[in-house]
Amino acid sequence: MRKWIKYFNDRSIKGKVFQGKSSAPEEHARDMGGYHLDETYKNKTDFFETWYLNQNDGRLEVYNQFIQGNLDKKDKILSLASGRSSAELYLTEKGYDITCSDLEELSIHRNAKLLFPEFKFFPLDILRSSLSEKYDAVTALSVLYLFDDYELRIFFENVSVALNPGGGLIIDPGGASDSWITLLIDNFLLKYEACLQRIILFCLNKPCAAVEKHHGFRRSDDEIVTAAKAAGFVLVGTKYDDFISEFRRSPILGALLKRSNLARKVVSVIGRKAPYIRLFMFKRIE
Ligand SMILES: C[S@@+](CC[C@H](N)C(=O)[O-])C[C@H]1O[C@@H](n2cnc3c(N)ncnc32)[C@H](O)[C@@H]1O
Repeated sequence: MRKWIKYFNDRSIKGKVFQGKSSAPEEHARDMGGYHLDETYKNKTDFFETWYLNQNDGRLEVYNQFIQGNLDKKDKILSLASGRSSAELYLTEKGYDITCSDLEELSIHRNAKLLFPEFKFFPLDILRSSLSEKYDAVTALSVLYLFDDYELRIFFENVSVALNPGGGLIIDPGGASDSWITLLIDNFLLKYEACLQRIILFCLNKPCAAVEKHHGFRRSDDEIVTAAKAAGFVLVGTKYDDFISEFRRSPILGALLKRSNLARKVVSVIGRKAPYIRLFMFKRIE
């Protein structure tokens, strides 16, 4: 496991700033670009177009294909940390029985309920409350990167309690594995790109603060599987997708990838070792 730091600049302040990991619901909402409401909450087609199909290069569609391939419509499913819950709503429309949850009920959830009367949601901090109700399957997509090793253990234990024997658990830890590739991107490329941008802004008489934010933790596949096994889960399937997003986080690489076929070819090969989407299907041992 490696501490995952994000480096960026903030023109509204000066000096050097260290920010801790997001913990309050509003901090998570900000990290997700703000869980704001808009006109798309008036119409299902617009809602799915904006919040499902056009999110992070089809990330949510990849999630749903995996869920549809591994879970059944008659399964009672709990989605943890569902955020805006648009992927879950898409599956609900297809006849899946999904209950969503996140730290807090927000206006996006209340308004989703107006557009989709069958939307089920309740507030849940999976690290603080173990569930009394049982489910056939649990999903936790793009949230585990927030948890340290102790919290990861609590997570798997609480999920295990919420599952019927033989129940399924689908996770994407969030981001690529801890490897030399992500180490280079996080701690070298992105760090020094932010530094270069600061120097340019300084020369343009626009000083800004250097911000180091503790984003979360990078873990290898083995580390995830070992933690799950310790809580009584067995791995039954995986899917890897999106071999480019980790590289696109760098403005320089992003620009290069837009313009150069060769850069795209090279990244599509190296990127196989750094998939942004890593889906794991576990089963709770009966
Ligand atoms: C990166 S977002 C992912 C949202 C959604 N699953 C997706 O893939 O777009 C992480 C979400 O995890 C939620 N979260 C963070 N800690 C949590 C916890 N302890 N229990 C439940 N949800 C949590 C945040 O509120 C946030 O909505």
